[in-house]
Parts: sequence; C-alpha cells; structure tokens
Amino acid sequence: MKTYSIAIDGPAASGKSTAAKGVAKALDFLYLDTGAMYRAITLYMIEKGLDTRSEEDAKSILDKVTMREDKNGHIFLNERDVTERVREEDVTKLVSYACAHKAVRERLVALQREMAKGESVVMDGRDIGTVVLPDATLKVYQVASVESRAKRRYLEELSKGKEASLDEIQKDIERRDYIDSHREHSPLRKAEDAILLDTSDLTIQEEIDAILSLFHEKAGELK
Ligand code: DC
Repeated sequence: MKTYSIAIDGPAASGKSTAAKGVAKALDFLYLDTGAMYRAITLYMIEKGLDTRSEEDAKSILDKVTMREDKNGHIFLNERDVTERVREEDVTKLVSYACAHKAVRERLVALQREMAKGESVVMDGRDIGTVVLPDATLKVYQVASVESRAKRRYLEELSKGKEASLDEIQKDIERRDYIDSHREHSPLRKAEDAILLDTSDLTIQEEIDAILSLFHEKAGELK
C-alpha cells in the first residue's frame, strides 16, 4: 500500500503540534510528536540529577530509556505516561540543551524513522523535512510572529489555570529559537523544498485546512 508523509517544522510555539494532530486525524495518518521525545530524554536526565548541557551525561542514559507514542498522542518513557509531565516548565527550560547533542539526535532520528516505517505519518519538529524525512510527500515550514506565538502560549497556560507572564513567555520562546537555530547538529531551518506557511493570523482550523489542501495538491501530483 502506498504511504505518505507530511513534515511540519518551525520555531517553538508556532502551533505545529495542534495543527499536525488535526491533519493526522483528518487523513487517518499516524501522528508523531518528535519534540515530546526530546522532552522525555530531558525529563529522564533531570530526574537522574544529570547535566543536560553535558554530552557525556546524555550519552550515559541513551541505552537506559525506551520511548513510544500511542495513537492518542501520549508519550511513554520506560512505559510511564509522561505526556503532561514533559510539558512542565523545568523540562521546557532545559530541552534545548539536551536535544543539541549529536548522540541524542542520532538515537531519536533512528527511532522516529523506525516508528514511521510502513505508515502514513504526520511528524512535527525542527528537522523533519531536512533530516528525518527528506523525501516527505509534503514539507511545511510553519512560522508566526513571536508576539502571536507568545500570546497563544500565554492563553494556553491561563486556560490550564496556571499563572503566566506574557513577557517571560516571549523571552523564553526567543531564547529557545536562538539555541535551536544556532546549534551545530541539525539546526532549525527551512528545507529548500518546504512550503512556508505564516500562521500569525490563522485560526487552528484555517491552519489545518491550509495544510490539507497543500497535501492534496502534492499527493495529486504524484498520481
Ligand atoms: O516542539 P517542542 O517545543 O515540544 O520541542 C521541544 C524541543 O525539542 C525544542 O527545543 C526543539 C527540540 N526539537 C528538536 O530539536 N528536533 C525536533 N525534531 C523536535 C524538537
């Protein structure tokens, strides 16, 4: 059976995962949240009292962790459901360091390709179109102004009943974008053949519809 893949990359908090989930649901494709996998590695290092900036520390845990994602977008670290936990602030603050190590990237890229094998998938991350799925049917590079991304994240936090500062959220997003796009291994960048989608003024549904129509166009070209 023919399989298809959609790669959605872009900076932090650009709404990639919500859009990716919606697209996967509409097409009945598997959804893989690759950021959650880097977050799970970070969580494991925090819990073991390790230094996320140390490549040695990161390497030392790679054969101690198993990871899987289920159809509902839940992530399991050594069979523990850590879906909610990996979105907490301590992990968010340190994940840019843990995910920059070459050994971590090699391990997770291999795992992501393995998970996608033989499936039609939607994957979101930073290096999906450039590294993980270079032959994806459709590559989208999603951007949005930092102000609109910060506002989205801020409203999300408030809706969860958490306290939040718009200014701090914006600074943290800028800091993560800087690290993710300046790191040595697989930095965040647009693949040459990715389609740029600015979602600053789009609702989630408009975003999903835009990606679906780009996908149908691409898939039609392949027939
Ligand atoms: O999308 P997110 O905020 O859950 O991603 C968490 C971190 O993981 C982010 O700092 C970038 C990194 N990441 C990455 O380097 N490569 C990916 N494919 C996905 C995420």
